[in-house]
Amino acid sequence: MKPLIVANWKMNPISRKQAEHLFESIRKEICGIQNIEVILCPPFIYLDFISKKTSKDIKLGGQNIFWDRQGPYTGEISPQMLKDIGCDYVILGHSERRKNFKETDEIINKKIKAVLKSRLKIILCVGEESRNSFNKDGRWTGEVDLVLREQVLRCLEDIDESQMANIIIAYEPVWAISTTENSCVAVPDDALSASLLIRKTMHQKYNEKIARSLRILYGGSVDSKNVIDFMKEDGIDGVLVGGAGINSSEFTRLVKAVSGQYLSAEQKTVISRF
Ligand code: PGA
Repeated sequence: MKPLIVANWKMNPISRKQAEHLFESIRKEICGIQNIEVILCPPFIYLDFISKKTSKDIKLGGQNIFWDRQGPYTGEISPQMLKDIGCDYVILGHSERRKNFKETDEIINKKIKAVLKSRLKIILCVGEESRNSFNKDGRWTGEVDLVLREQVLRCLEDIDESQMANIIIAYEPVWAISTTENSCVAVPDDALSASLLIRKTMHQKYNEKIARSLRILYGGSVDSKNVIDFMKEDGIDGVLVGGAGINSSEFTRLVKAVSGQYLSAEQKTVISRF
């Protein structure tokens, strides 16, 4: 499987002109890079024109959806609408939606079930809010493990094994997201232990095959300088970026860093001949 880089543009940029510029600068720089999968998730309102200009090297995703196909839901967008406009992915359960729009694991579970009927793939975000898992004696309390496990199990309630091929899990500790007040940087070990815990949970809920094949991303202050450290970890299959994804030069540096790292030995030899 190719490593995955997902850029969540959140509510940025502020105008269509800026969105066009951001997209064009990214596309120009990364077109032709085929050893990684790049997914851009702009605000809904920019998806239409971006989907007309995108190439097969860049896939598109939405940042949220409602849980029904169509009907009296003012202001909402359905999974079928996203698919129709050219999206292949949707982010669900981002901590900003959990916090600002009171999205619970139950709501996210409803959304997951709706998305699975639409042939979109899901990037499900989970992550604890605080890093305080050590008591005052410096002993691990296991709190993070509990929170993560519960989030994963509740969000995936009644989702069966065959549907898991359409779900990617992004571990995003809220305390490490760049816009969180007093955020602190996570280390690759944090990502690795979370990924092990998620895989263990998948093993218990499903089986070893699902636990191994599940794609797990890390997100939280990832940039072009630290991306390789996170991606080097065995259980991490890609990254979900916020801030770095809305700065075209930083994002293209990040994509190229990962792409360079993952060139096969054979490709490297060919390139070094030029
Ligand atoms: P960040 O955001 O990369 O700016 O920390 C990550 C996210 O919120 O998905």
